[in-house]
Amino acid sequence: MIALERPDDPEAFFEHAAALLAEGIAPEHVSWSGGESADLFAAATRAPRAKWRGEKLFAAALLHRAENRFSLVYRALWRAARAKGWLGNPADPDLCALRKLEGEVRRDSHKMRALVRFREIRDAEGERFIAWYEPSHFTLRANADFFAHRFANMRWSIVTPDLSAHYDGEVRFAPGGSRRDVPAEDARDEDWRTYYAAIFNPARLNLAAMQSHLPKKFWRNLPEARVIPTLARAAQNRAEAMIAAPPTAPRFSRASAPQTEAAATDLADLRAQLACCEKCPLHREATQVVCGAGPLNAQLMIVAEQPGDHEDLAGSPLIGPAGKIFDEALRRTGCDREKIYVTNAVKHFKFTLKGKRRIHAKPGAGEIDACSSWLHREIEIVRPKVIVAMGATALRGLTGQILAVRESRGKMFDLAEDRRLLTTTHPAYLLRLQDEQEKRLAWRAFLSDLAQAHAMAQA
Ligand code: URA
Repeated sequence: MIALERPDDPEAFFEHAAALLAEGIAPEHVSWSGGESADLFAAATRAPRAKWRGEKLFAAALLHRAENRFSLVYRALWRAARAKGWLGNPADPDLCALRKLEGEVRRDSHKMRALVRFREIRDAEGERFIAWYEPSHFTLRANADFFAHRFANMRWSIVTPDLSAHYDGEVRFAPGGSRRDVPAEDARDEDWRTYYAAIFNPARLNLAAMQSHLPKKFWRNLPEARVIPTLARAAQNRAEAMIAAPPTAPRFSRASAPQTEAAATDLADLRAQLACCEKCPLHREATQVVCGAGPLNAQLMIVAEQPGDHEDLAGSPLIGPAGKIFDEALRRTGCDREKIYVTNAVKHFKFTLKGKRRIHAKPGAGEIDACSSWLHREIEIVRPKVIVAMGATALRGLTGQILAVRESRGKMFDLAEDRRLLTTTHPAYLLRLQDEQEKRLAWRAFLSDLAQAHAMAQA
């Protein structure tokens, strides 16, 4: 009988598992238990050890709340040690069960990264930000470094029922707490509601999808959740008014939030794989990977640069200020966003911190190249007829070459399999232009490029 002290300590599990395997103790003779409350402090320093094959899968599954997780992982280690190649069997029921646990833990981590909402308090040392959060699994300890990087300039605490994490230059863990330890409201909550109401797109409201991605249990802790019922009630009228309204002049400042349809299996697989991507260091500080969005077999694929702050939080490409310009250009060219596939050359947000703000940083050649296999895989699955590269990063991701946009803009090139590539400027470039005349010309050229690509895709 192995009684682990903490429920969220894969290292302790692996130590015991190694000893059991060395003694040849079969899974059916081991009974595991793990403390149900992760209220012990950081684990003692441990000696370095060799990695297990499949360790990432096992370590994530071990953070699940399922009681059988320890026995499942030990049985997997036992079987992997006895049958070479066993870990590669996609149909094995134990491996399927482990992948399911791992996926649930991964989604729980993503939710935590996106949904923690801090409230400001003052303690003896001054300003502190504190959040109450209820993860479904034991994911706080594994995500504490992420918050330490993201909010390196703040003093913060995240309190969950099992465990609390406190950051004052370094992370310290303490017992869990209760919702009462954290103020229910603060002035920032109103900002969240304003932001949410601004990005809420009534024409894309899908309450069933919203509730499946964001079960009601999370709504309690989200300041913006309070406005959802009101916005939802008004959505149909607002959407009808939008359709009836005459076209407006381009506006460059509001964001819209498209929701992607559940993708076909191959894209779903790609997304699942992408969610684990660690090919370059960008995954460490981004909230989540931002995959492409759009229908399988779209005739037109748009490749932008990388997710920005909005995209990183929402998990959808091109929905922030640059996306707003892009949407307006699509509208002007009669191109339906629902029918095209929109993606980025780099799938994680790269930024530098300026105070508490995350400022976009250009992806480097290494990061673009590391991500290009995902982009090419996306192209193989979607099989678009025409691809539009918006900006130099997209062009590099697609061609592997450093090419100046101004030299190739508006020209069509042939790619393999009868596919055509057109280069245009990135919409963010239009946002940066100061000179009105220059801006007008660049906007017209951008519209003409998109129109050309759209027509070619439909031909
Ligand atoms: N800019 C991009 O290139 N892509 C996004 O998804 C958002 C901003």
